[in-house]
Parts: sequence; structure tokens; C-alpha cells
Amino acid sequence: MPGFVVGGVLLREIESARKQQYQGTGENMTEAMMTDINRQVTAFGRLIFQAIGKNQPSAFNKNFWSGKIMNWSMTQPDFKLNMFRLVDVLPSLRSSESIAAHVNEYLGTAAKNMNGLMEWGLNVDPSSLRAKVTSLIVKKSVRQMASQFIAGETPSEALKELRRLRKENLCFTVDLLGEYSVSEKEAQVYQDRYMEALNVFGREVPKWPESNPLIPGHPGELNPVCISVKLSALYSQCDVLNYNASVNTLAERLTTIARRAKELNALLYVDAEDVGNNELIYEAFKQVFGSDEFKDFPYPGAVVQAYARRSGEVIDDLLDFARKRGGPIAIRLVKGAYWDSETVIADQNEWPSPLFGQKQSSDAQFELLTRKLFDNHDVCFPAIGSHNIRSLAHACCYAESKGISKKQFELQMLYGMAEPIALAFAEKGFLVRMYVPLGEMIPGMGYLVRRLLENTSNESFLRHTFHDENEVDTLLQEPRFLD
Ligand code: 2OP
Repeated sequence: MPGFVVGGVLLREIESARKQQYQGTGENMTEAMMTDINRQVTAFGRLIFQAIGKNQPSAFNKNFWSGKIMNWSMTQPDFKLNMFRLVDVLPSLRSSESIAAHVNEYLGTAAKNMNGLMEWGLNVDPSSLRAKVTSLIVKKSVRQMASQFIAGETPSEALKELRRLRKENLCFTVDLLGEYSVSEKEAQVYQDRYMEALNVFGREVPKWPESNPLIPGHPGELNPVCISVKLSALYSQCDVLNYNASVNTLAERLTTIARRAKELNALLYVDAEDVGNNELIYEAFKQVFGSDEFKDFPYPGAVVQAYARRSGEVIDDLLDFARKRGGPIAIRLVKGAYWDSETVIADQNEWPSPLFGQKQSSDAQFELLTRKLFDNHDVCFPAIGSHNIRSLAHACCYAESKGISKKQFELQMLYGMAEPIALAFAEKGFLVRMYVPLGEMIPGMGYLVRRLLENTSNESFLRHTFHDENEVDTLLQEPRFLD
């Protein structure tokens, strides 16, 4: 039977070419084995959908402003673009005049298609009283929207929310918001924030009764404190063109953080970022956790983004590193959060994109790499990061088919994005870790915009599930490589 034809090429040919790249790592699965897994994924996925029932992540709840904004964004592309531009610029606007002027400029035209309060606040004289009210409402709505995805400004402020997560049988990893540092002073402040976070969590979290391991003996519960470090912001001159200094400086600063984590027995992941910085990040990771000082650091975590065409090679390299290191590392597999910006930058420069163009290809790659991680679980602890029930169910079923227990891997999701999904998997006995960002509005805007893009994209699994309410069996179909 011929496969689908995409751009003149048989889909099946694309897939078999790709599979050849990964021989010996689960990709030599026969079609029959895959059919078997798919059958299990569908059955298990249906159970998860049943457990979720009518529960919705609050970001999609139309009773809240943020849910309404999300809804408008999904139905009106012009509104979406301008709304996100406004969100991006908002924290840097100081006066209500300037906020009202930006609201007029960005949303004035879109307002024609809207009604109610939103329209009332648009196209008003920036120096009027009404403009002041508009500015307050807009700031409050964006703050409310941000607070769904960001658990607080400071570590102490976040404690309550982190404890609530543990009460719900979810564990966490905390990320401190900060994208780039433009000066060494800023980089130092960022490093100090990580040290403060470790101190606060190290002091407070172990005291909670909820900090007893959710799953005793699970490596993800060696300690309830876990941080995720965004490395590039620790050095203001971080750039591949400044390769050696960047790697060495990032390694040195990561060492300071890892030393404190080690004293507290805290777990640590080093996040992946944009393609430009990732090579530096992986090198710094290997320098630190390959060193004598950190050889026995338990399960230091690296992150691999499946949307990157090179992601298979990145995993191979990390697995080699883990083998040489002599102690396992954790690998968090994610789809990747910088697709929009990376794609625009590649287009602008007329470079071939380093990422898959089609979402479905990233999903297919994610499954291929999930199998690679489980096939190498002797040296790596898989942390499967996704909100896509198909991707997660595939991981759980594949692990089971290989006799890998629930204590040998974990699932990870972003705070505020998919709590009903997280709870459903936790209820089935899997360890689910929420990635929880902390920080102020300005450094938080890049993160917030990425979450909004993710939720409202035409390709978003969460959107298809909670907004478009697609059929369960369609959502659970095996993804295929399309490019
Ligand atoms: C991001 O910052 C979750 O690390 C991911 O968007």
C-alpha cells in the first residue's frame, strides 16, 4: 500500500530514511511491535482522557479574563498578534497615558470585532480618566494571566504554591525567570537569585510533611528540592563567537550553583535554550558534571528539544558522556519552546531552519527519542516533558513493554498549563514534576508570550484538547514525519 505523498515524497520513505539514522535504539522496532504499542497507547490514552473528564486548565477557563483573551486570540489572528505585542511591551510602560496609547495602537482596530468592557477601554484619549481605568484593567489582566504560569516573584512567595503542588501529589522543579543578561552586574544578580532560592527551599521545603517521597525509592524523589537553571543568563557575554570564555564562565558559575545544590542534596536540571546557545550550555554541563567534584552528583539533568533536527545526535552525545562519567544523568526530553523565534530568525537570515517545520514531525521525533532514552536507561533517567497525552502515553506504554518500572522515569509538565493532565497521570502512579517559574513581570514576559503562543497555536495539543475538543482517537494517533 503506498504511503501518503507529501511534497512529492512518500511519507513512508521519509520515515524509513529517518529510522535508519537511529538503528539499534528501538528504531529497529518492527511494524507489528509498533502496532502493538499503538494499541496500548490508545487504550491507555483513553483512560487518561476519562480521568480528566471535564476538568480544564484554568488558562482555558472563559470565566477568567485570561481565558477570554485566549479565546479571542484563537478566533481572531489579528487580535492575537497585537495582544502578544502589547503583553511583551507592557512591563516597560510606566505611565497610564503610555499604556492607553499602546492599547489604542495595538488593539484599536481589533476592537471593532469585540464587545463589552474591552471595547469600552479602547480608542480613548490617553490623557483621560477612562485611559487611567483602561491602563489599570490591562495591567491587572496581564498580571492575572502571568500569575497562571508564574508561581510568585520570590522563592519565599512561591512556597505556598509549591507546597500545594506536593499536596496534590505532584513534585516540582523551580526555574528563575531571566532570559539574557546585558551586564555582568545583572548576571551576578541572577546567580545570587539561584543561590537565594536554594537557600530558601533547602531550609523550608524539607520541613513539610508533604516532602516525604511521593514514590519511595524513586530517583526523582531523592530530594523534594529541584531547580532548573537557565544558564546563558549567568554570563552577559555568552555567545558562540566567544566560545571558550563562554563555556568556561558558564561552567564556573554553574559550579557555584551546583556546589550549593550538592550541599543540600537538591536535584538540578540545566535547561536547553535557543539553538545559538545550546552548544555552549551542553559543553558547560559536561565540564561541570564530568569533573571529579561532581562525579557523584545524582542524576544531573540536561534537556533535549525534539523539534531540533539534530536532537538525535545531541542525545547520542549525552549518552556517551553519561557512559564515560560512570554515573547516570537525567535527560528531560521536550518538544522545544522557541520554535516561533528560531523559525523567524532562520527565515530572516535565509538560513535553513535547524528545526522541523511541521509540528507533527517534532511529535514523531519525540517518540523516536523517547524510545532511545528508554533503550539506554542504564545510563540515563528519562524525564518525559510534554502536555501531549499521546506523547506521554506512548512513553508510559513503551516503558512498560520493556519492563521498565514507574520508578525508573518521570513525566514533566509546565506549571499552569495542564494540571488536569498532570493529576490524571499522577493518579495512575507516575511521578509528575511541574516546572515552576518564579520572577518578576519584565523577565517573565518572554516566558509568558511563549506559553500564550503554545496554547493558542493552531498546532497546540492543549488547544485541540481543551478548546477545539477534537476527538480523543484523533488526538491519540501516531504522529508521522512530514518534513
Ligand atoms: C521556556 O522557558 C519551558 O524552558 C521553557 O519556555
